[in-house]
Amino acid sequence: MTDVTQAERAAWLRDTLNEHIYRYYILNAPIITDGEYDRLYQELVALEEADPTLITPDSPTQRVSSDLQEDLPKVRHAAPILSLSNAFNAGDLRRWEERNLRLLPPNTQLNYVVEPKLDGLTIVLTYENGFLRSGATRGNGEIGDDVTANVRTLKTIPLRIPVQRNSLSAPARLVVRGEVLILKEDFKKLNEEQAARGHAIYVNARNTASGSLKQKDPRITAQRPLTAFVYDLIDSSDPIPSTEWECLEYLRQLGFNLVPDCEHYPDLDSLAAALDKWEARRHAFPFETDGIVIKIDQVALRRELGVVGKDPRGATAFKFPSEEATTRLLDVTINVGRTGKVTPTAVLEPVFVSGVTVSSATLHNYEVIRELDIRLGDRVIVKRSGEVIPYIIGPVEGARIGSETLIQPPTHCPFCGAPLVQPSGAVDLFCPNPRCPERVFRSLEFFVSRQAMDIENVGPQTIRQLIAEGKITRESDLFTLTTDDFKGLEGFAERKIANALAAIEAAKQRPLPQVLASLGIDGVGGVVAATLAAEFQSIDALIDTCVRVRQAVETFKQIAAPLSQGLNSPEAVRAAERLVNPLLDLVPRYADAADVEKRLTRLLKPLLDERPDAPIFDLSAALTDVIAAARPLLAITGLGGVLINAIVAWFSDEDNIALIRAMQAAGVTMQSQQAAALADTFNGLTFVITGTLSVPREQIEQLITSHGGKVSGSVSKKTSYVVVGESPGSKYDKALTLGVPILSEADLRKMASSP
Ligand code: IVH
Repeated sequence: MTDVTQAERAAWLRDTLNEHIYRYYILNAPIITDGEYDRLYQELVALEEADPTLITPDSPTQRVSSDLQEDLPKVRHAAPILSLSNAFNAGDLRRWEERNLRLLPPNTQLNYVVEPKLDGLTIVLTYENGFLRSGATRGNGEIGDDVTANVRTLKTIPLRIPVQRNSLSAPARLVVRGEVLILKEDFKKLNEEQAARGHAIYVNARNTASGSLKQKDPRITAQRPLTAFVYDLIDSSDPIPSTEWECLEYLRQLGFNLVPDCEHYPDLDSLAAALDKWEARRHAFPFETDGIVIKIDQVALRRELGVVGKDPRGATAFKFPSEEATTRLLDVTINVGRTGKVTPTAVLEPVFVSGVTVSSATLHNYEVIRELDIRLGDRVIVKRSGEVIPYIIGPVEGARIGSETLIQPPTHCPFCGAPLVQPSGAVDLFCPNPRCPERVFRSLEFFVSRQAMDIENVGPQTIRQLIAEGKITRESDLFTLTTDDFKGLEGFAERKIANALAAIEAAKQRPLPQVLASLGIDGVGGVVAATLAAEFQSIDALIDTCVRVRQAVETFKQIAAPLSQGLNSPEAVRAAERLVNPLLDLVPRYADAADVEKRLTRLLKPLLDERPDAPIFDLSAALTDVIAAARPLLAITGLGGVLINAIVAWFSDEDNIALIRAMQAAGVTMQSQQAAALADTFNGLTFVITGTLSVPREQIEQLITSHGGKVSGSVSKKTSYVVVGESPGSKYDKALTLGVPILSEADLRKMASSP
């Protein structure tokens, strides 16, 4: 290339990059992905480095980026908060090392420290005499937003160092740098909670973390699951260790949360050999990462190398291949799940992203489509990260040609025609028809799948056919299918029918946790199912608890409902919202509280200020009853309010209980092996029930039959026991006359549970 073309190329890159910056930051309408931008930017950096006369004042490399927010106080950083240059392959890294070696004494051997590159928000923390004095964002690198009050709400940021008493003493002044982010697991949970409350989900963890940290009210920050990691020692009044590796260890000893999995390499060859391994691990980290940061280990050499523009020479970011690509949105199809939830799905022009061809992506719900302003025919940015289903980050607004059309939410279920509903405050649309063929299909499809009951030889196609032929409408129907039911189904000859029936028969013996996890209850996967089975031992006991909790919740709601009418202050309205479903928040919060009434009074103060006559005593008594009823669920570690609510809702629903009963009748395992050992305690015994019991009579009958006993309607000499509830009828008198032994409900339960 001649000088002229290099200058031309540099000019073109400058103009192009400046155009993209304008589109991104001012128009909010980028037309290329971050990865594509990075590549162009790097090309310009390389040209300018090779020939510094190419640098012009309007070059984007001369710009110090800023994320300052107008309404927050400002702080000046002790030292410039630098950025990092990028490398995309081993060749880039070698050139980076060669450039550095040229600036250092001959025969210098560079060592390296590598750590995952966190995709969050930079934070600068200043400690004076061991106490956290300030927390600031990067801002423009020199001046940052003062977010001290917000930073103080993060448990991963020590308020005093050293956190544990050890031989270290805190320097008079210490400045460290790190990143604030939301862990993948926390982000998932946050969105599950948002969804359970019917609120809009957050599309992007990084923006959510950033927005959370820049709140004006630290109480809002405190509610967000933010985590901070520290990765750099910027300044200290004490001498610091001579290597990066030791600096990290020193920060760890002081009690900081260090970026996990850092590694040390004696030279670039060993590091280059490990690049594939780092990339293979990228999705195994608990946080989002788009690369690794490589730092020269020798602190003195790093200092000597200094800075180019805003990047230190002594460190660089190695970027993994982009997981984003742009493509065209061809259509939006509608999925209806087993709960009736409507999920719009994008049909995309096939595009290659991180190793696979993507042709569809989830759009979550119509609120997301509206907020992102995605239109049919748009070019869209697709991201595919790890195992996660590809999703759309947003449209490329600058690429619109005017023929794109708005996406209207459907009004009716495309499968059954039922008018769709949107529960108040919810963002999702639902098909309310429990007999909707698609809902039925989706729940049965899941039920037979490998992750559920694992019924081999009965796949989605077979399920579709069986539904179409009217042979099955719910899970329990599978267990009563006969050879005749399969005859005539496409592809089912004698052999295949026998295999399917054998697989169904075998599935009846699946252990209780597997059965529980197969029911498709929101949030109840293998782990939760196993703990439920261990705690309750049988589905009957679980249903029993859930029915009681539901009743106690109803009572609570009756007392609470009138309190939410006609409130004035937003605080009072917020307080009233906490009463709408006590299982979500109040019950787990006060599960172990000694004085529920006092704490509830404090919590509801804004409401009680407007309603001094509110029956707070009755309310707290009702809440105490809910807590008592929910005790067995609260005893299980890891079950939060959202999950407890989902479990109670499912197992207290009449249709669901009927389904369980039908499966039980067909011989499906409904108790743990331990409980099964007690299953024949009533073998050969006949019981008669009279009077009102604490639970519906069917449940007592169920208790008897599930333990091998028989229930009869009338008392005779052959009756083994009469179970007597409140206000018993004539059967009680007859039992006395005939001398048949009498049992209370409690006696019966005791007999049932002792082998
Ligand atoms: S070290 C002087 N280590 O990535 C170099 N930075 O794209 C100090 N980042 O602005 C940075 N993870 O905010 C370092 N493990 C890590 C990092 C990390 C994320 C950020 C950092 C920087 C940006 C550059």
